[in-house]
Amino acid sequence: MAGTLIAFSGKGGSGKTTLAAMLVRELVRTGAKPVLAIDADPNATLAMALGASCPGTIADLRDEMFAVAQEPSAIPKDRLMDQWLAELLGEEIGYDLLTMGHPEGPRCYCYINGLLRRYLRLLRDNYPVVVVDCEAGMEYLSRLTVENVDTLVLTTEPTAVGLTTVRRIAALADALPIQVHRRVVAINKVSDADAAAIDPSALPPAQAVVHIPFDEDIARCWAQGDPIDDPDHPLRPAIVELAHQCLSLNSQSTDQPQEEPTI
Ligand SMILES: Nc1ncnc2c1ncn2[C@@H]1O[C@H](COP(=O)(O)OP(=O)(O)O)[C@@H](O)[C@H]1O
Ligand SMILES: [Mg+2]
Repeated sequence: MAGTLIAFSGKGGSGKTTLAAMLVRELVRTGAKPVLAIDADPNATLAMALGASCPGTIADLRDEMFAVAQEPSAIPKDRLMDQWLAELLGEEIGYDLLTMGHPEGPRCYCYINGLLRRYLRLLRDNYPVVVVDCEAGMEYLSRLTVENVDTLVLTTEPTAVGLTTVRRIAALADALPIQVHRRVVAINKVSDADAAAIDPSALPPAQAVVHIPFDEDIARCWAQGDPIDDPDHPLRPAIVELAHQCLSLNSQSTDQPQEEPTI
């Protein structure tokens, strides 16, 4: 059976990578393993946030593929690509990491997006949970890199710009031929005062809303390039709630989808 696919989307800087990394660690701690973590952002930082190794990227593979394509070979290219996938997977305790990377120079992303889609299909059955850290904006949805999402985490800071972005992403997800079974709005870097001031009608329609407080330590870890791996981290209760909401696919939600706000 295909693993539960959780995709983090939202504006750049909203905290997608941070929350994806903390969620992966939480899922590993609580036994939903092995987790497959996918860094689908060309500006890959998930390995750093997890403190994981990255043996190679899909973009590197594409460059090798181009070199091999010049030479005659008895092995079909498809088979070669699938064999190479094993070499791209970073194996960590409780999870594996696959990194998309970015093509050198002005080359287009279509090919590596196609490979990512192919690998996602091949791998999804082997993991109970797949966590995808998507690139900022909406490109990955419109290019259909991620076709069938169990939980779309709409990540936003408590700002008008962040909220507008997640509303647009939610609307685009509705308009595209992809399935999104559940939406969770993660309002990140939020203070108690911010949380109280958020107008619920500014949120995109979602089954759940989770608040993740602003935390100085996260910013310090990022500034120093340290992974966020402390199990007693003050944000842990919020991440536990996020994990619960992301995996509550069949439970009756208390927050019914809201009407699309009139802006
Ligand atoms: N809850 C939080 N509290 C404080 N800083 C945070 C929090 N979440 C993320 N950050 C900081 O916000 C910045 C952007 O986070 P990042 O996860 O890279 O965002 P994205 O992946 O959406 O671009 C990083 O410097 C990170 O340390
Ligand atoms: Mg990121």
